Amino acid sequence: MNILLLGKGGQVGWELQRSLSVLGQVTALDHDSTEHCGNFSHPAGIADTVRALRPDVIVNAAAHTAVDKAESEPELARLLNATTPGVLAQEAAQLGAWLIHYSTDYVFDGSGNRPWTEQDATGPLSVYGRTKLEGEQLIQQSGCQHLILRTSWVYAARGGNFAKTMLRLAQERDRLTVINDQWGAPTGADLLADVTAHAIRHLQQRPQDGGLYHCVAAGETNWNQYAQFVIEQARQLAPALPIQTTEVAPVPTSAFPTPATRPHNSRLSTRKLQDTFGLHLPHWQQGVARMLAEIL
Ligand SMILES: NC(=O)c1ccc[n+]([C@@H]2O[C@H](COP(=O)([O-])OP(=O)(O)OC[C@H]3O[C@@H](n4cnc5c(N)ncnc54)[C@H](OP(=O)(O)O)[C@@H]3O)[C@@H](O)[C@H]2O)c1
Repeated sequence: MNILLLGKGGQVGWELQRSLSVLGQVTALDHDSTEHCGNFSHPAGIADTVRALRPDVIVNAAAHTAVDKAESEPELARLLNATTPGVLAQEAAQLGAWLIHYSTDYVFDGSGNRPWTEQDATGPLSVYGRTKLEGEQLIQQSGCQHLILRTSWVYAARGGNFAKTMLRLAQERDRLTVINDQWGAPTGADLLADVTAHAIRHLQQRPQDGGLYHCVAAGETNWNQYAQFVIEQARQLAPALPIQTTEVAPVPTSAFPTPATRPHNSRLSTRKLQDTFGLHLPHWQQGVARMLAEIL
């Protein structure tokens, strides 16, 4: 199997380099790759890459993920999150290749407290959410064989993330204030990459199972509880770490105004993914504890 991986240096892209390697020959690109264009600012270059490499499977982990910055550069966000994925989808359709793509809980308006299903109406609140939704739609309309995994609150051992920020702040401050009214599930880039590899194998046998799925770790939490978990784990895993924080005070989202509006309810139901692909999704705490054990 010939696999083209785009966005190889991101959280998910990095883990995909590992998980896809057992499936076949992987050509992994990012925006400054030289032999083939991997820059999503150049859709024509991306199309040329697909035509030159003729992959069986295209895995797209590239995206404009700077949610607040997207509010002030909507054209660039649209190019990276919608237009170029749409071009990839057209090329995949012409070639008969699979396109694997990632999307987000930000396609929803965050109302209620029930986990969103794939059938629920979307209602993005931000440029990021709107452009990611448009990307989904362009892929679906292209007629290519595709798998879209919507996920949330992605972290990885590599790169910056919320848990690492909390670890740093916990060594600097007695008291942290962290919002407690946004709910979701922290999801490891390693879990997403492993699910992707399993799904690709499954789809070779059962192509009719392609489509849109929610893929997040099990359980739910809010950012305040997540921060508390990180700090408790750090105390257990690294007793020598000079943790100062004795209180993680809950505050509402309104205490930290941001350019992009975040959904309050980012819970995603994974029933469809689990039933279709026969997968078990571990609890979010398991993956976060593992990542912390790796970095501490
Ligand atoms: N992060 C989250 O919490 C989250 C939540 C829900 C869904 N998702 C989705 O999951 C997928 C993977 O996200 P992630 O967390 O791995 O994001 P990430 O770490 O920000 O990775 C995004 C990748 O896209 C690359 N990129 C940026 N501009 C590019 C361009 N012009 N051309 C080509 N590549 C470019 C980045 O490269 P540089 O780093 O070099 O700029 C990076 O390698 C995305 O589709 C995202 O929308 C993420």
